[in-house]
Amino acid sequence: MITQQRLEELVNECAFATKQGKVASYIPKLAEADPQQLGVYWMDLEGNGMGAGEWEKRVTVQSIVKVAIFLQALADCPLDELTRRISLNATAETFNSIVDLEVKNHHRPLNPYINSGAIASLYMVSGGPEGRLQRVMDLLGKLTANDALSIDEQVYVSEKQTGHRNRAIAYFMKSTQIIDGDVEQLLDEYFRLCSVKVNCRDLAIMAATLANGGKNPVTGVCCARKSHCKTAMAVMVSCGMYGQSGEFLVRTGMPAKSGVGGGIMAAIPGKGGLGVVGPALNETGNSAGGIELLSRLSDEMDLSIL
Ligand code: DON
Repeated sequence: MITQQRLEELVNECAFATKQGKVASYIPKLAEADPQQLGVYWMDLEGNGMGAGEWEKRVTVQSIVKVAIFLQALADCPLDELTRRISLNATAETFNSIVDLEVKNHHRPLNPYINSGAIASLYMVSGGPEGRLQRVMDLLGKLTANDALSIDEQVYVSEKQTGHRNRAIAYFMKSTQIIDGDVEQLLDEYFRLCSVKVNCRDLAIMAATLANGGKNPVTGVCCARKSHCKTAMAVMVSCGMYGQSGEFLVRTGMPAKSGVGGGIMAAIPGKGGLGVVGPALNETGNSAGGIELLSRLSDEMDLSIL
């Protein structure tokens, strides 16, 4: 569908866009990322992959892990029970919005991909404080075909020390009975999950697995139910890129999820998955270079689902 040479050319052609963004700094350790880093990996549904640019270099997964948390919550809890606590609607606010908690329904988070919704989804994963983190880590390992995933301890500590906005959101949700139990423990698990190191290939495989109805095209392992993948991708379409989700859908036609580490994964049902990494972010908190790359790849490879 695309040659190695063309993929390399595209990374070079999109380098200009990295200069239009800035690395995240509200988590102090993320400010040390290289703003010019840019890479991409394509994985098709037969397990054939191709990478270009700095695709091997790892960043922290950040909000992209919210898709794995949501998939595990869907596996552990009926959808109607989950949606009593978390809505499935779009938001125009930022990912760490404190006002995106509905006034009705005990202040439900608007969707599972903003911080409040991800923390509430993690709360709904089975296993309690002893088992939740490992359940999501195991799923993430299966989705990425990578059983050697590890946590960036410095980013984890940096976010734990400064994540007061998430603390406020989580304690507020405890006050409205969306979550219960030890809030600091739940946040610790959330911060650890956001700090897992991934590269473009990990993200592309995870996206291709979603696009393949839950069956990992590299390992052949069934990681998630097809219906859960459809739900997770539907929410990616409406909320995966936060306030830019609509514009991104118009430009690419792809369900995608971004993270402030600079990663984006895009799942193209029936075709494959893309993983891009570029730590320089636009004002919405999405990778500036990554969005440029995904737009051009969507056009050249005819990847829009619309
Ligand atoms: O909770 C946070 O603020 C970060 N750990 C994750 C935010 C994030 O990645 C938003 N994505 N663009």
